[in-house]
Amino acid sequence: MGRFVVLEGPDGSGKSTQMRLLAQSLQRSGVEPVTTREPGGTQTGDAIRDLMFGPSALPMTPLTQLFLMNAARTELVREVIRPALSQDRLVLSDRYWYSSLAYQSAGDGVDPDVTRSVCRLATDGLEPDLVLLFDMNPEDALTRKANQALNVLDRRPSDFHARARLAYLQMARQEPDRWLAIDASLPINQVAEQVLETVQRLIGAPVTEVGV
Ligand code: TYD
Repeated sequence: MGRFVVLEGPDGSGKSTQMRLLAQSLQRSGVEPVTTREPGGTQTGDAIRDLMFGPSALPMTPLTQLFLMNAARTELVREVIRPALSQDRLVLSDRYWYSSLAYQSAGDGVDPDVTRSVCRLATDGLEPDLVLLFDMNPEDALTRKANQALNVLDRRPSDFHARARLAYLQMARQEPDRWLAIDASLPINQVAEQVLETVQRLIGAPVTEVGV
């Protein structure tokens, strides 16, 4: 069985950049990870992403968002993540079901028990080995994204993002063996070093330096 690593955190916290740096460093040391992101990562998932965030996105309730995110997630787990894990691969995913708990539940009020049940159903209970939380003040994170187009979920009031952050930190505290919270406001290379070291330890690879 391979290893499954999830990157979580607010929009603009640098998750995607860190995932790219991590993948590059691992490749240099001979490990070829399977990288993916949510929502998306499959044809159906990308179509759902378009429906939610594309130019003709329609308004929808948080419960509809929960269902759509999890429809995309079902496809991703079945088509990409499980097959890769059964081939002993290392899977890196930009977001997983913790985003549903942070955004749809803590942010938008969907009962967390409902969210947990839907996510379990969607994934058949597949849990990651490691969750890397890129923690920082969500408003500072969003300013980093100022030059990029913000999607409908990014454009939420600041208390929405504050609740999502607290939910992430609480999840990290509840499962300290699975989660590592990283201060994402640190310089990019310092964050990348922590990420690489943690993942190399998880997969039992010798610890090497980040190569950009
Ligand atoms: P994206 O542009 O990929 O943002 P990011 O780079 O920050 O991941 O958009 C994904 C958005 O979807 C992001 O605002 C978080 C949100 N989201 C949820 O609300 N629930 C979920 O279950 C997932 C996976 C994402």
